Amino acid sequence: MAQKKIALIGAGNIGGTLAHLCVLKGLGDVVLFDVIDGLPQGKALDMLEAGPIEGYDANITGTTSYADIAGADVCIVTAGVARKPGMSRDDLLGINCKIMSDVSSNIKQYAPDSLVIVITNPLDAMVTLTKRVTGFPKNRVVGQAGVLDSARYRTFIAQELCVSVQNVTAMVLGGHGDDMVPVRSYCQVGGVPIEKLISTARLEEIEQRTRQAGGEIVALLKTGSAFYSPASAAVQMAAAYLQDKKHILPCAAYLEGEYGIDGVYFGVPVSIGAGGVERVIEVDLSDKEKQEMEVSVGHVRELVTAMDALLEKGE
Ligand code: APR
Repeated sequence: MAQKKIALIGAGNIGGTLAHLCVLKGLGDVVLFDVIDGLPQGKALDMLEAGPIEGYDANITGTTSYADIAGADVCIVTAGVARKPGMSRDDLLGINCKIMSDVSSNIKQYAPDSLVIVITNPLDAMVTLTKRVTGFPKNRVVGQAGVLDSARYRTFIAQELCVSVQNVTAMVLGGHGDDMVPVRSYCQVGGVPIEKLISTARLEEIEQRTRQAGGEIVALLKTGSAFYSPASAAVQMAAAYLQDKKHILPCAAYLEGEYGIDGVYFGVPVSIGAGGVERVIEVDLSDKEKQEMEVSVGHVRELVTAMDALLEKGE
């Protein structure tokens, strides 16, 4: 059976980790692309040489030529600049929007049938730009944010209660910024609603830590941002597509009226299968959660407006 082909655009911290996870999980052959000559080739060769130990036969190549991504089933984009201490994700808008325009037009040309998963920040604006430039249908352009944000929320809850992370179900919706929405009403531990297990005051602290969890890691690393967990999150989405799992995951999806929101990418639960984003799942939210979603969507719209202004000025 022919192997699936996964193109990773950006071979930095997340790109390298993505490649490793893809081959360890047997998802397919991997092409690592970057603009820095030697970086993708070196990482690819290093990983190839781990194959006999780990027992994978996947082909892993590194390249600076977009022609090599031809025929990719999935493109996962991390090309761009990561934040440093003191920066918000939005501070990356100017620089990453130029990079993403270039990346998207090359994906359009060389991998026109692929599913594109965007990780580059500021995520909600970058995924919007990708859809515009590629012209791909909405089911084939999706942003990674909610899987990661939800995993962070689940981690903190599991730590608080000393239970397995596998017993914690939770989702974080909305934009991938400091006003993301941890949805307390759907958070359960072993099927028990979270509000029966943790006090409201403590839950608020945990949710605030979740909103700022990316910044917490940036402050520790000092030279970049999180990469293991974002890579795991995107690989879960790619696996759902490549293996037609119909996995329900919180992702940045293009909304056309769902949740009363129109014409914007926003974090909501979706089902991912062979058709890409096959369905947006609408869940009932509390009044407080609805209000928080409104604030968050307002922020995403402002970000897209700021991006449009930069693009118009040619910056
Ligand atoms: N085309 C392809 N790759 C590019 C381009 C471009 N035009 N410009 C930069 N890159 C590459 C860089 O050379 C670098 O290797 O993107 C890579 C980014 O890697 P890192 O700096 O290690 O950043 P990483 O931690 O992987 O994060 C990438 O994901 O989570 C977001 O905020 C994060 O926007 C950042 C992105």
